[in-house]
Amino acid sequence: MKSINIGLLGFGTVGTGVIKILQQNSGAIERRLGAKLNLKGIADLDIETDRGVKVDKNIITKDAYKILNDPEIDIIIELIGGYEPARTFILHALKNKKHVVTANKALLSKHGSEIFEAAVKNKVDIGFEASVGGGIPIIRAMKEGFPANNIQSVYGIVNGTCNYILSKMSDEGRPFNDVLKEAQALGFAEANPSLDIEGGDSAHKITILASLAFGARVDIDKVYTEGISKITPIDINFAREFGYRIKLLAITKRSGNEIEVRVHPTMVREDNPISKVNGVLNAIEVTGDMVGENMLIGKGAGSLPTGSAIVGDIIEISRNILYGGVNRVPPLSFLPGYIEDAKIKNINEIISEYYIRFSVVDKPGVLSKISGVLGNHYISISSVIQKGRGEKGGVPLVVMTHSAKEKDIQKALSEIDKLDVVLDKSVLIRVENGERV
Ligand code: HSE
Repeated sequence: MKSINIGLLGFGTVGTGVIKILQQNSGAIERRLGAKLNLKGIADLDIETDRGVKVDKNIITKDAYKILNDPEIDIIIELIGGYEPARTFILHALKNKKHVVTANKALLSKHGSEIFEAAVKNKVDIGFEASVGGGIPIIRAMKEGFPANNIQSVYGIVNGTCNYILSKMSDEGRPFNDVLKEAQALGFAEANPSLDIEGGDSAHKITILASLAFGARVDIDKVYTEGISKITPIDINFAREFGYRIKLLAITKRSGNEIEVRVHPTMVREDNPISKVNGVLNAIEVTGDMVGENMLIGKGAGSLPTGSAIVGDIIEISRNILYGGVNRVPPLSFLPGYIEDAKIKNINEIISEYYIRFSVVDKPGVLSKISGVLGNHYISISSVIQKGRGEKGGVPLVVMTHSAKEKDIQKALSEIDKLDVVLDKSVLIRVENGERV
């Protein structure tokens, strides 16, 4: 039986998962591929720590270039993460005509165009299934499952840490910091969780999904990104009263001749399946003009689910090597010559429904003052709740709006926050009722 040789850069949690899968499932893989997958080299700065998998010590090195320049290695797996040296290593591998598999969402969201162009130029494949949604085969679905469609939108819960925290806050009525600390203690959240909780990780992932959806170069710096650290149990409870759940959604959709690409806490109707995806699970809903709505749900992180996506890419690339077809499917599914810079709608220009919580003094006339300002900015109210008479430090006054322009909402809020009856900065959460979300 033929062998395909693989080199691994980065022997961490996911790398260990990849090795476990290659060892445990070699039979199933060989029956599907008709060849053996042979791990020929591993590079990592730490060559001592026992990762709990059996590997020949002789194949481990500190020198990544030993792997990158090994003429017998066909496929390089990059699991170092971050921008450098991952970018340099990947470009070096591609130049050496090695196929590459990576989970590196940060790198692809920033330097994807350069890397994809280098892969096509060198006539090798690049697999990045593990970069979004862990084990969920969303990249393959978008590249090969829906190419008959014009994609209209992609909505995703693509960060398990945030979904876990919001689910716990919602189920147990606990504040954000408390749940975050617990998640860190349990190992669900990173010691430095800011990339997750401030939405950066989701922004990386939706940038990649938007590129795939629209066949466009998406500038991550234009992706509006807001995390979950300001969400409170008060808002979660009000959302529930209105029939909504709060999720950190990564959203991209067509909007006239532009696209929207944004990440923020979002109120989602409780009859929408995405509102019921809880804990560390991820969910991604893709809507195509012909196929309609499709949702994929699964484990968005972890050694074995992410390893499953990596090994899936290795098998796909190995099939191309063995049976022909390298570059058959371009990195973004769209032919490189047709890929253009995306026109991304500024957040101020989007149209949405909004939840706004004002913190106000409890006296007659306050509601009319606030609704007056909203009306002056063409914002129409759909419902109002006001509770908690007599509480010290003001009472919450919650307003749900009909569709309005973000710019008008922001102008209205800055006026309202200056009113003497308003005691604190208002809280705004966008509501998605479009398509099915
Ligand atoms: N930190 C991510 C999450 C997983 O919490 O979902 C890796 O992208």
